[in-house]
Amino acid sequence: MADVFGKAFEWRELKVARATGLYPYFKPIDRTDGTEVVVGGQPVIMVGSNNYLGLSLHPKVKEAAAKALERYGTSCSGSRLLNGTLDLHVELEEKLARFLGKEMALCFSTGFTTNLGTLSALLERRDYVFSDRLNHASILEGIRGSFGEHKRYRHNDMADLERLLANAPAEAGKLIVTDGVFSMEGDFADLRVIAELKKKYGARLMVDEAHGLGVLGAHGRGLCEHLGVEDDVDLVMGTFSKSFGSLGGVIAGPKEVIEWIKHKARAMVFQASMTPASVAAALASLEIIEAEPERRERLWRIAHKMRNAFRLLGYDTGNSDGPVVPVHIGDQIKCFRLWKALYEHGVFANPVIPPAVEPGHSLMRTSYMATHTDEQLNRVIEQFELLGRKFKVLPEDAPVAADVIAQVGSIEDEQEGAPRFAAAEHRTNGNGHGNGNGRSRAKADGYRGRADLARKVFDLVETATWRAANFQMPTREQMRGVVQERLGDVTGAMIERGYKLMELANRARGGRKMSYDEEHE
Ligand SMILES: Cc1ncc(COP(=O)(O)O)c(C=O)c1O
Repeated sequence: MADVFGKAFEWRELKVARATGLYPYFKPIDRTDGTEVVVGGQPVIMVGSNNYLGLSLHPKVKEAAAKALERYGTSCSGSRLLNGTLDLHVELEEKLARFLGKEMALCFSTGFTTNLGTLSALLERRDYVFSDRLNHASILEGIRGSFGEHKRYRHNDMADLERLLANAPAEAGKLIVTDGVFSMEGDFADLRVIAELKKKYGARLMVDEAHGLGVLGAHGRGLCEHLGVEDDVDLVMGTFSKSFGSLGGVIAGPKEVIEWIKHKARAMVFQASMTPASVAAALASLEIIEAEPERRERLWRIAHKMRNAFRLLGYDTGNSDGPVVPVHIGDQIKCFRLWKALYEHGVFANPVIPPAVEPGHSLMRTSYMATHTDEQLNRVIEQFELLGRKFKVLPEDAPVAADVIAQVGSIEDEQEGAPRFAAAEHRTNGNGHGNGNGRSRAKADGYRGRADLARKVFDLVETATWRAANFQMPTREQMRGVVQERLGDVTGAMIERGYKLMELANRARGGRKMSYDEEHE
């Protein structure tokens, strides 16, 4: 008889990762001043936080939380529906509705349960939901907890979205749901096209602004504001755990729809409400977000500097376009090694591996705060150069950090023509933001070309090894198809070597054969 705990007892990967010192997660932080934290007695520069505006440590935010704690105690001890609503919750919801330009707003205890509660309450049998493949896990959970028909479109692929919309029954209720800023890749949803498609096919649109609120748009209302599509977005979701420096989430939209969610969402009705301190902190942060656009602008200069620096060094930062700057590594073990070395050299970044990203697409997620200093950022650039070279993530002829730092300059400099978060135009070409000179951009493109090729090769090897490790064996012909699709001009010898590697790994694991198609169903 199978033991439901069997998988846990037999789980070797965790033990191996810990034994080799490559386990990067659940690190307890002893102290923090935001941009620098102390872990195990060692100070490290934090480039892995979503505290984009640094507000979790702002004196006014802390004071508001402390006052609420004093007045209401530590917990509301019940659900919003019954005894868990404070005057503070109502005040926050009214202010957020005004801020977001929507009829009504509703706060949940976390961003995760905001998506979970909203989607599971809204989607019923015969409703269709169209969701980007890279949407946050909480969106996926919300859809899974509903009776709606789930259609996933390829990441930011508008043709794929349109195909799915066109194939859905004309009479079905339709909702398109997407992250605004994608949390791991840091790129933006193509909201202008999505808004057109929503109108063409009579759908509704929900945008998760977890990483956009407070950060993007002239007034900090997020990507929808940044791209000028606010009126086309029916439901805006946000979370307080990022730029608001607190905990909790919000959904805003038409009054009747929010009332429905308020009374139907299980995550509202059966979950204890946001703590008084969290609500008060979110209220104080909202005030600062509205009053101090200079924080957003500084954050923009920081993100701009770091993205430019990484690209000049030869790293691939994908199509990222905000304060999340991923460095694509590809190979998972290489990603862990680089993480460990960075950590030991005083830099706290986040290694992101499958299932958070697709196999072969592991990345080092870096994210920035308006409170980072030039000195801290330059140290991060230096370590990424030194260690990227050591672990062969960077090309041998990558420039040295000192040259790159000189080129990207200081965040305190006035950068003529530098784009700001308030910028109206959205750039999707992934070519940087254009205040570098032509020469440095051409150089960066050259490095990126090589990095792309290297990434494809790693991608291939890791995909093969991953399949083998998971006992999934494609036939040689299928493997050839996968390789050719990924590398186009790859030689036959490489295909053979890749296949041999896979066979060896599979044999070593005593794996059984399994078809490629089976895996992809
Ligand atoms: C896009 C997105 N949506 C929702 C959430 C959930 O928010 P929270 O962590 O505040 O519950 C996150 C947080 O990681 C996120 O990145």
